[in-house]
Amino acid sequence: MRTSNERVLRVFDAVADRYDRQMATCERLLFPGSRTWVTGRASGRVVEIAVGTGLNLPLYGDDVVSVIGIDLSERMPALARERVEDQKLAGRVELRRDDAQCLDLPDGCADTVVSTFTLCSIPNEEAALREAFRILRPGGRMVMAEHGPSSNLFIRTMMHLIEPLIVRLSADHLTRDPRGPLRRAGFRIEHVARGRMGVSFRIVAVRPE
Ligand SMILES: C[S@@+](CC[C@H](N)C(=O)[O-])C[C@H]1O[C@@H](n2cnc3c(N)ncnc32)[C@H](O)[C@@H]1O
Repeated sequence: MRTSNERVLRVFDAVADRYDRQMATCERLLFPGSRTWVTGRASGRVVEIAVGTGLNLPLYGDDVVSVIGIDLSERMPALARERVEDQKLAGRVELRRDDAQCLDLPDGCADTVVSTFTLCSIPNEEAALREAFRILRPGGRMVMAEHGPSSNLFIRTMMHLIEPLIVRLSADHLTRDPRGPLRRAGFRIEHVARGRMGVSFRIVAVRPE
């Protein structure tokens, strides 16, 4: 079962004002440290796909020259825009409405593509990873933190059982494993680590030279 862009828009525009609070709880329990891990591996010209409310934006280090954050939703990046203004990040951050499945960005324009907790929501995640590959320069890196099927059999079974309901309510595919789609898009996976309860992935994947 796949979601659609229309469904994603409805869900995320509705949830946007509660998103940071809900995400903080999830992160504390399941994904602690993921954002600092991802942003600490970004450098040069960064494109962050499905930037949401911009939780990663204040965390990028000095190696990052510029960040283009794109998102399909209206309300999520509106909150990211407020964050950029509040934290005076406008010098190097640009936010755009765009579709990660068919990006309005030129080939090879990014040194790093970042994705945190997005592949679960993008209707066609394979298309989004093909686009990430296209916009990376050869040798550029995709850095991601995502949830996916747990390495623990019991938890994985529970995730599969509740997934249809969660997709319907929250446009969230719980058990997408990013590794197959990354390889099919042409990436070489350089690093994979699993997080608490085996539910999350931290991945660095390279567009070969
Ligand atoms: C769970 S949120 C993650 C937001 C952010 N990456 C974070 O780490 O908090 C998923 C985001 O994916 C966005 N999204 C879903 N499909 C998309 C698409 N096709 N193109 C761009 N953004 C998309 C949603 O609007 C939402 O902001």
